[in-house]
Amino acid sequence: MKIVKKGLPEHVAVIMDGNGRWARQRGLPRTVGHRQGMKRVKELIETAVKAGIKVLTLFAFSTENWSRPKREIVLLMNSLGAYLDRNIGELKKNDIRFRVIGRTEQLPSFLRVKIKSAQEHTKANAGMALVLAFNYGARQEIVDAARGCARSVQAGTLVPEDIDEEEFRTHLYAADLPDVDLLIRTSGELRISNFLLWQLSYAELYFPKKYWPDFCNEDLFRAIKEFQRRKRRFGGIDVDEKNN
Ligand code: FPP
Repeated sequence: MKIVKKGLPEHVAVIMDGNGRWARQRGLPRTVGHRQGMKRVKELIETAVKAGIKVLTLFAFSTENWSRPKREIVLLMNSLGAYLDRNIGELKKNDIRFRVIGRTEQLPSFLRVKIKSAQEHTKANAGMALVLAFNYGARQEIVDAARGCARSVQAGTLVPEDIDEEEFRTHLYAADLPDVDLLIRTSGELRISNFLLWQLSYAELYFPKKYWPDFCNEDLFRAIKEFQRRKRRFGGIDVDEKNN
């Protein structure tokens, strides 16, 4: 399938759901599902770069995921560590800037070190931003942004009357990134699950039935094509209706 560059979503966000069910269907442990999911992550990143996507945000670990069995948590943390160890060269080669959004201060120190180093080593890259939501929750992000505004008011650099959408946005975790254009959630679940609540305001939503470990390049292209067919009105009306 070929992708038309015109009308490409600038920012694609993905809730990679269904690793556990994919494994259960095969009588395998959930951790095998995550390992398979990780392979898709690598593939998706390469394909997104080639397609010309500017920002790719992946939901890899939510603030609610701490309630999972310890070995699953350890596997997800180690997967990110191993990914960074093995792929910094690849990220640099592909001009990808790596970022993490979330409450990273609560992550184990070995991972904080690797994240910091990866962010540092790729900060000059301008091809695609790869944003990993890790220990991320959208309500927490909004609360943290509210705290940021409050701190500025306390410091005397901001007055409450000047807190508008533009000001508030500057306190989000990755304030410089554009809003999400296309959200993909695999596995057939029709929920947002505390992901990027602010940035998804006008996103087009796409819910393929496949579990994440089965989501292939063709599925991404299908999602992009569907996005290109949609008419986005941002609360207004169609341009061709304006003359009626
Ligand atoms: C949701 O499936 C998936 C996750 C909570 C983790 C996503 C992680 C990966 C794809 C691999 C790790 C990636 C990085 C970059 C560290 P689920 O476990 O909720 O599946 P289920 O709903 O079928 O149980």
